Amino acid sequence: MIIAIDGPAGSGKGTITKLVADKLNLTNIDTGATYRAIAYAALKNNYNVADKDKIVDISKNSEISFDKDGNIYLNGENITKEIRTKEVSSIVSKISSIVELRENMVNIQRKMAQGKDVIMEGRDITTVVFPNADYKFYLDASIEERASRRYKQNKENNIDMSYDEILENIKARDYNDMHKEVGALMRTDDQIYVDTTDLTIEEVVDKIVNYIKGDE
Ligand code: DC
Repeated sequence: MIIAIDGPAGSGKGTITKLVADKLNLTNIDTGATYRAIAYAALKNNYNVADKDKIVDISKNSEISFDKDGNIYLNGENITKEIRTKEVSSIVSKISSIVELRENMVNIQRKMAQGKDVIMEGRDITTVVFPNADYKFYLDASIEERASRRYKQNKENNIDMSYDEILENIKARDYNDMHKEVGALMRTDDQIYVDTTDLTIEEVVDKIVNYIKGDE
């Protein structure tokens, strides 16, 4: 079984997919984290966004994996915290726009799902990675709500960014995410659209679980 979830930054995808995965006993794959892993490696090697070939090479020569708790590893190094820094957040959208990189990442993501029941979240999962997924959801929320969620999340993780800084960052990422040449975030008629602005986390989880169980 494949459940595909797309949506913009701060729409709650990460939190929701983790909880749905626990409830339905699915493997949770956060594809944004895989792009962040590449961005982290690019920063570490002092590459900039224009070093496309070198960045594509990272995806060819690195091993990205998740453990059961959702920690992410790049060539065996646990980089779960490192991929959430301000520096990574500010370049990841541009990095993820590199077309050749996306081709490699889509293959890596499909391989991660092989032989498993998965819930996978990102921007192009319902359209490119698994267009024939069993269930396809698009999670959304107002931009102010998304910025305030990210602000709270950052505070909990001791990441120092002002609300305005986050709002600007999300606006820029929305634009990049929706205007990519390949793999752009988009709404389609066959996705189940869920506006989470005024819903609690539990309400969103129930909605998705009920839908999958056929109760809605
Ligand atoms: O979900 P996130 O914010 O951690 O994602 C980080 C970046 O990666 C985001 O700017 C968009 C990009 N991304 C993508 O292009 N395709 C995906 N399937 C997932 C994320």
